[in-house]
Amino acid sequence: MNELPPTFTILALETSCDETAAAVVRGGREVLANIVASQMDMHQRYGGVVPEMASRQHIVTLVPVVEAALGALPGGWNGVHAVAATHGPGLSGALLTGLNAAKAMAWQRGLPFVGVNHLEAHIYANWLDTTPPQFPLVALVVSGGHTVLALLRDHGDYTLLGQTRDDAVGEAFDKVARILGLGYPGGPAIQQAAAGVTGAPALPRAWLRDSYDFSFSGLKTAVLHRVQERQAREARLPRAQGAAPEPALDPQFVRQMAWAFQESVVDVLVTKTVDAARRYGAAEIVLAGGVAANLRLREELARRAPVPVRYPPLALCTDNAAMVAGAAFYRFAAGVQSGWDLDVTPALRLGAT
Ligand code: KG4
Ligand code: ZN
Repeated sequence: MNELPPTFTILALETSCDETAAAVVRGGREVLANIVASQMDMHQRYGGVVPEMASRQHIVTLVPVVEAALGALPGGWNGVHAVAATHGPGLSGALLTGLNAAKAMAWQRGLPFVGVNHLEAHIYANWLDTTPPQFPLVALVVSGGHTVLALLRDHGDYTLLGQTRDDAVGEAFDKVARILGLGYPGGPAIQQAAAGVTGAPALPRAWLRDSYDFSFSGLKTAVLHRVQERQAREARLPRAQGAAPEPALDPQFVRQMAWAFQESVVDVLVTKTVDAARRYGAAEIVLAGGVAANLRLREELARRAPVPVRYPPLALCTDNAAMVAGAAFYRFAAGVQSGWDLDVTPALRLGAT
């Protein structure tokens, strides 16, 4: 690994999903600016991200977001030594907007450029504004699009231990929240609904024995069946004249289902992560991705882990560009740069470039 000066400053862009983000990070760890324009309100009424609308909104928002990030850097562009952008995984149209903008800016200013894997970036959120984690480490990346358990022996040295075979964890939170009438994004809504619930009936766990893979679609279907059974039962009861045709779910039932779903997900995630940390002699466990914001997951992992657990502050768990700059720093330090022909890779895997 080359020694990069601690003042090496990277401007990074992130547009893989529904956040338009730009950040400036010095020395791979010191966040000087971290600007995130969320499109959440725009997608909310559709119950999820609409890819075409996301791409168009990135185009509208990118320039002001980059200007705001550079505005926090004395000397603006003159203080930037390199440029980075997420090139996968993610929505292809959305990725293209940030990748092309970043390449154009780097080319025009004669700066080195590197494409960054979004999953790797989530992991590197754990290096920002803190002491660097110790290798080897086990990383659990849990977001709306991904569920990945990986071993990192060093910078850039990834072994994929397991991943989801169907829905991502965040996606399962979002879908179950919709089934329960809790709205979008589902993660925070389910966490809030589940808070304080005790003694509710449990839901099954999908262990997929002898594998670090995950599955969440069966659990989602289990929730759907419980809701349908309950609605069928209520439909048979005599109802007051003029009552709504589809009565809302009983709030107590919703809270219990939210709790049981969250407990099932957290139990499987924590059990597999702790097992992997033991087996590979990890010095630390790092959590990453939007679902790392889940308080129950943090609490249970900290309780059962044999080694220290870290997770980024809330603002760095969800999609942002500071984490992209963090990952880019270690790629530049390893002598990696991308060519101007770098394309987006919507299904990019962890460890692949
Ligand atoms: O990393 P992220 O911002 O975007 C992706 O790359 O997907 O993650 C968003 C996901 C959403 O599915 C959201 O429901 C989930 O993270 N999430 C949570 C919580 N906060 C956000 N899931 C569980 N508990 C939370 N507190
Ligand atoms: Zn993400």
